[in-house]
Amino acid sequence: MYTPILSPLSWDLGHIANFEELWLVQRVGGLEPMRGELGRLYDAIENPRSTRNELPLLRGEELRAYMDEVRARTLDVLEGAELDGDDPLLEGGFLYEMLIAHEHQHNETMLQLLQMVESYEPVEVDDGPAAEPVAEGPEMVAIEGGEVELGAGPGGFAYDNERPRHTVELEPFRIDRAPATNGAFAEFVAETGSEPPRYWERDGEGGWVRTAMGRTEALDPRLPVVHIDWHQADAFARWAGKRLPSEPEWEAAAAGTDRERANLDHLAFGCAPAGAYADAASDAGAVQMLGDVWEWTASDFTAYPGFEAFPYPEYSEVFFGPEHKVLRGGSWATRRDVIRTSFRNWDLPERSQIFSGVRCVKDG
Ligand SMILES: [Fe+2]
Repeated sequence: MYTPILSPLSWDLGHIANFEELWLVQRVGGLEPMRGELGRLYDAIENPRSTRNELPLLRGEELRAYMDEVRARTLDVLEGAELDGDDPLLEGGFLYEMLIAHEHQHNETMLQLLQMVESYEPVEVDDGPAAEPVAEGPEMVAIEGGEVELGAGPGGFAYDNERPRHTVELEPFRIDRAPATNGAFAEFVAETGSEPPRYWERDGEGGWVRTAMGRTEALDPRLPVVHIDWHQADAFARWAGKRLPSEPEWEAAAAGTDRERANLDHLAFGCAPAGAYADAASDAGAVQMLGDVWEWTASDFTAYPGFEAFPYPEYSEVFFGPEHKVLRGGSWATRRDVIRTSFRNWDLPERSQIFSGVRCVKDG
């Protein structure tokens, strides 16, 4: 299975191992690369997605052997690593946290591809996280505005783009209590003739079916809409008489959300209905701010005031600018340890193979 908008799975796997070798074996351990030529193959910047399938990638047994060897060397190096010294890369295990997060972020990318695979069977599905009961509540919840703190504080692991924590002034606003649903999006499509989300098809009787991982099912109107691009999210919000939240608005509305009570970690291989996890609402009363679907924001991916690239400019800095829009909150396919309310994901506004949905806001 291969599509030019995603990487072949063997590229992701080789890249995960090669990135680990680069940082934890070569940089921390001071060892020579096992196979010097691999560095170029698995460099994400040098090899755009559309070209990755043409590379002489490691596959099958050879790939597994390389991954195993890198992991063994990483663990060897870890034995002697000085995690409480003053090397900022190692202090508090920063690089180790970063490499686990990197691997886990690629798990989600791989799921984007796997759900296009017709015969893919999830190894294990836990129905619990998607079967959480739905509680009634208001359509929108209010946020007072005033000064809010944005970003990650100095302690613990966070990416450079989440720092430094700083204060932003917000006008009062209201935000949808839950993410927008398939049902609402179908109404929008019916009224405006807009493009439906990726993976939707007409059922021939005026309704919709949705196909993922080879299974075609009637569209469930209660579930959050997923696989929409930024333009669809923005048009939907306007149609609803609302708008997309800015990043500070989103983060203020998400404050107090607990990632331990959220549909994450690809356990359920799908979303919980909009309005679930009401016992884990944010301080403002919004539910599912973490998990289920990534939420498009109105904001371009830009540096916070006082930003410093760490540990390398290719993680975030090279992507800053108006071409990328920020998504927040993680999806059912996001690993739990990756997500937090300050986490910033970014993508091109035309991307819809990601697990992206929308939640709207209104002034006042
Ligand atoms: Fe990567």
